Amino acid sequence: MGYRYTNDSKKEKMKTVKLFNIGNLVTYSVDQGAMISLENMEIVFSAGKIIDIGKQLGDTDEVFNCQNKLVTPGFVDCHTHPVFLDERENEFDMRIRGFTYEQIAKNGGGINSSVDGVRNSSEIELIERVKPRMDDFLKLGTTTVEAKSGYGLDLDSELKSLKVLHEINNNHDIDVIPTFMGAHAIPIEYKNDSEAYVNLLCDLIIPEVANQGIAIFNDVFCEIGYFNLDQSQRILNKGLEYGLLPRIHADEFNNLGASELASNLNIVSADHLMNITDSDIKNMADSETKAVILPGTTFFLGNSNYAPYHKFKEANIEVAIATDYNPGSCNIQSMIFIITISSIFLKMDVLDAIYSSTYVPSKILNVSDECGSIDIGKNADIIVWDIYKPIQIPYKFSTSPIKSVIKSGKFIF
Ligand code: NIG
Ligand code: FE
Repeated sequence: MGYRYTNDSKKEKMKTVKLFNIGNLVTYSVDQGAMISLENMEIVFSAGKIIDIGKQLGDTDEVFNCQNKLVTPGFVDCHTHPVFLDERENEFDMRIRGFTYEQIAKNGGGINSSVDGVRNSSEIELIERVKPRMDDFLKLGTTTVEAKSGYGLDLDSELKSLKVLHEINNNHDIDVIPTFMGAHAIPIEYKNDSEAYVNLLCDLIIPEVANQGIAIFNDVFCEIGYFNLDQSQRILNKGLEYGLLPRIHADEFNNLGASELASNLNIVSADHLMNITDSDIKNMADSETKAVILPGTTFFLGNSNYAPYHKFKEANIEVAIATDYNPGSCNIQSMIFIITISSIFLKMDVLDAIYSSTYVPSKILNVSDECGSIDIGKNADIIVWDIYKPIQIPYKFSTSPIKSVIKSGKFIF
């Protein structure tokens, strides 16, 4: 049975609703193959879907005055790790005192320090922690979120994490697209025998996850001290055999050849890429693989080696930006703030940043028929802003200047 992330019960009934007096409608246009900016527009939606876009459209059951302000698609955040129990602000404090992410992980912090919390919690306890995080994503304009498991690292706890995501997707307005990430770290009980854990993933956990139909993607952290290149390849190929689409955490702290592997296997996306080389970029340009840049992580870790966005752009590689929200290396949920960081540190043009946080991630997640742009037939996943032009998004990040978020036709606020 396939995993359904859009639930009919989420859709607003049959009434027609018109957004009018839109000063500036900014979206990717599939027809024109470019970002467009249209003035004085109206949008009509019904039963969760956009049914008309234009000027002086006819009467509808309800109307909403956008007060001449900016309207964009909802954000699609294609890389997050929200299924954990407690936050790890102690590690943030340690970094302030001079320790690096790698040093902290080696000394009892990092991903493994979140594992007990997930293993020792019930599904209900985890849902209670994860649901408010989803409320926050929606408040910040994210209407579709990819979410990874990966703090359970054994069969039961990984399945539990994915069930939490499944439950939340069914009972929350936000659409959650689940990724299995049993290959997030080597669990402590396997620390001297990583091959045994890789065997467990390949022989037992991946087949069972696939069998339950509760994940779309399979992601691996290819990094020194985590999964080496051979192990990453085995895990991704095994997932693929079972219908799980491969993604990879690549070239974050060290370049083990992960983005090269991604390009060679035509993996959906390679994420992080702070240490990618020029020849890796060339390989990626010759493949279908898309780049996901997570500049919030570079920022939150206090590093300065941002991924080379302009090199990807010059090579015509499609780039998404995402939060990487997690309790350790990046406790950031706001795509608005990610756009600000992308502007300042990646020197990313703001229209490119909107493209990279709406349409490109919708393609990576295979949901571009449903979201990622404002188009007839797609979900009415819309942000009505309290500002007039795109450049005010990164400029005014500190107040999250959103007037309303509409998800599948429902006004969240
Ligand atoms: O994003 N990729 C490296 N860092 C992890 C962070 C997770 C954590 O520290 O909890 C990640 O997958
Ligand atoms: Fe990550």
